[in-house]
Amino acid sequence: MKKNIIANFKMNKTADEVKAFLIELIPAVKSANATVFVCPNFVALKSAEELAKNSPIIIGAQNISEFTSGSHTGEISPEMLSSVGVSTVIIGHSERRKQNKETDAGINKKILNALKNRFKIVFCFGETKIEKERNATEKVLKSQIETALSGLYENELKSIIFAYEPVWAIGTGENASIKQIEVAAGVIKKIIKELFSEKAANECEIVYGGSVSSQNAKKIFQINGISGALVGSASLDVSEFIKIINLA
Ligand code: PGA
Repeated sequence: MKKNIIANFKMNKTADEVKAFLIELIPAVKSANATVFVCPNFVALKSAEELAKNSPIIIGAQNISEFTSGSHTGEISPEMLSSVGVSTVIIGHSERRKQNKETDAGINKKILNALKNRFKIVFCFGETKIEKERNATEKVLKSQIETALSGLYENELKSIIFAYEPVWAIGTGENASIKQIEVAAGVIKKIIKELFSEKAANECEIVYGGSVSSQNAKKIFQINGISGALVGSASLDVSEFIKIINLA
């Protein structure tokens, strides 16, 4: 299976900087053995999509509203994203959970709205340091996944990339160990099996995120049950990001 390598630029890079990044990235991914996603800020999406349209790179957004339209200042609707050719979105990132008070129930509404509008979803979840120290990882993942995927049909899971992102590993330089990631992938598959079926568990795509770099990507890509990475800081530098893609 081709690996999914997803760049999450967060609140970095202007539209022009995203364009410059893509101009370097596009020729480098022509022969890549990976599906490459680039998720810049909203105002960069249109020009990024125009540039990437005839390349294998998929442009994604970092958020989507649970609503269709109306009085939701600062939010963005599925229709608005679709109008610039974007049909992939990151939902449930831990920074939005923390800084924007997003809840599992709210994330569920966003996922349902995105699916209704035929989006591909990069669904992020993961335990905090305290939860890890309390050995509560499995319980936390179960409740996050169960609530966020509530009301979904099994056949909709093919539109979801599960991004396991332990909060303590994001932006800290402290990536989870190979063992921890492997165990988590097993736990995620077990949860999906319980909620849906064994087939769904076998087929689901799980990526890891949290301090992925060209130094650790190779080992991460070899982990049983892991089909790629969500890359934050290390995606901002195009040559570093290309190195990671080439390790897939
Ligand atoms: P990081 O971010 O690679 O900088 O740890 C990952 C993410 O937040 O998606």
